[in-house]
Amino acid sequence: MANGSETAKLTIGDKVIDLPVMKPSVGPDVLDIRKLYAQGDVFTYDPGFTSTAACSSTITYIDGDAGELLYRGYPIEELAEKSHFLECCYLLLYGELPSAADLEDFESRVTRHTMLHEQMQYFFRGFRRDSHPMAVMTGVVGAMSAFYHDSTDINDPWQREVAAIRMIAKMPTIAAWAYKYSIGQPFVYPKNSLDYSGNFLNMCFAVPAEEYVVDPILSRAMDRIMMLHADHEQNASTSTVRLAGSSGANPFACIAAGIACLWGPAHGGANQACLEMLREIGTVDRIPEFIARAKDKNDPFKLMGFGHRVYKNFDPRATVMKQSADEVLGLLGIEDNETLKVAKELERIALEDEYFISKKLYPNVDFYSGIILEAMGFPTSMFTPIFALSRTVGWISQWKEMISDPEQKIGRPRQRYTGAPRRSYIEIETR
Ligand code: SDX
Repeated sequence: MANGSETAKLTIGDKVIDLPVMKPSVGPDVLDIRKLYAQGDVFTYDPGFTSTAACSSTITYIDGDAGELLYRGYPIEELAEKSHFLECCYLLLYGELPSAADLEDFESRVTRHTMLHEQMQYFFRGFRRDSHPMAVMTGVVGAMSAFYHDSTDINDPWQREVAAIRMIAKMPTIAAWAYKYSIGQPFVYPKNSLDYSGNFLNMCFAVPAEEYVVDPILSRAMDRIMMLHADHEQNASTSTVRLAGSSGANPFACIAAGIACLWGPAHGGANQACLEMLREIGTVDRIPEFIARAKDKNDPFKLMGFGHRVYKNFDPRATVMKQSADEVLGLLGIEDNETLKVAKELERIALEDEYFISKKLYPNVDFYSGIILEAMGFPTSMFTPIFALSRTVGWISQWKEMISDPEQKIGRPRQRYTGAPRRSYIEIETR
């Protein structure tokens, strides 16, 4: 394909098929193969979607080689320094940074949707106390479609808007209540006098027996962690939400599907797995043993929090997260944090090791986040729920974009069939 040409030519046998070239605003050109099967009687083959654009989107752009992450064009580094989570939510949902009046209105709408239907608390009580909070969140969010009937009609723009606000507003309450339930403490209701991240910390750590004062350092760190996790193009859980939404499923069911997918250790579950790995390593002198295991083809062990499908130089979120870890632990007076020492030494050794260099494996967003969350008082089981509540705005923004996309159809991939060709039934007597 000549650079800048409007079509690519694919030769299959004696056929030459013209594939239109679609131009992005930034990033690689896209070959439109929608008519390839009809014209060429062939499928493309891309099991992990390493070379497949599943949609057009205006929300988030990632450049893996440049280590660039843009929310609606704004670099994550600038947003992490100058913005805050609810402003990022507005930006991701509506495409532009809000005016002061619009931001105040948006924050007020979110604040007034943070309570759950009182009946929903009985869902939590149906779980065992030792249930993983992600199991609880998957169940409770899926159940929201049984409670919020007035925001499940996906064809009504107003109901889509209400569902988006409800999801962003209620996820911290659901996550906090899953945590409280797991430690046998009473649910703490949202407080409208607190900001988004402070309210989440209060619902997690306040108890009826005494006043809880939100620490501004922790609240700012929590808010930054939420911003860094808010959206990330067409990752596995976002693709799950889009695929579920493509059938016309209601938004709560789609978000529940996204939560389930995020839970996997190769995806959002990596933050919990990473801290557990750092704890298992324990001390700096054991790092070479684990590096060797990560490189051993016969050992399924991987360095959790390392590697990424897209980032092949560095994950800009990990850079901000590492700075935040130093800042938060320093401000909390936790200087001699052994886990942080192991993490930094592991990163240093890995980044000098030919195996990791050749495979372009770098720390990702999950490598340092757990260290901060543990220092803030969260158990490892709450790391992925916090990722889920942060990513909800990305999921719901991408879902809304998909619903309004004139090109969207129900997602229905094909396959390369390698099973038995047609054969006749064999009676059991003759087998
Ligand atoms: C997230 O997609 C997103 O944007 C996700 C995310 C988001 O914001 O939504 O960024 C969040 O999920 C971050 C990733 C968190 N997962 C982990 O930290 C788990 C550990 N990482 C790996 O499982 C892996 O790196 C993935 C899943 C993240 C990426 O997998 P890919 O792109 O399919 O790459 P791969 O598995 O094909 O690996 C390429 C090579 C392989 O070796 P070869 O078969 O080529 O010899 O690198 C090796 C892998 O074995 N490799 C690792 C490794 N990650 C990849 N070896 C050791 N340790 C690792 N962590």
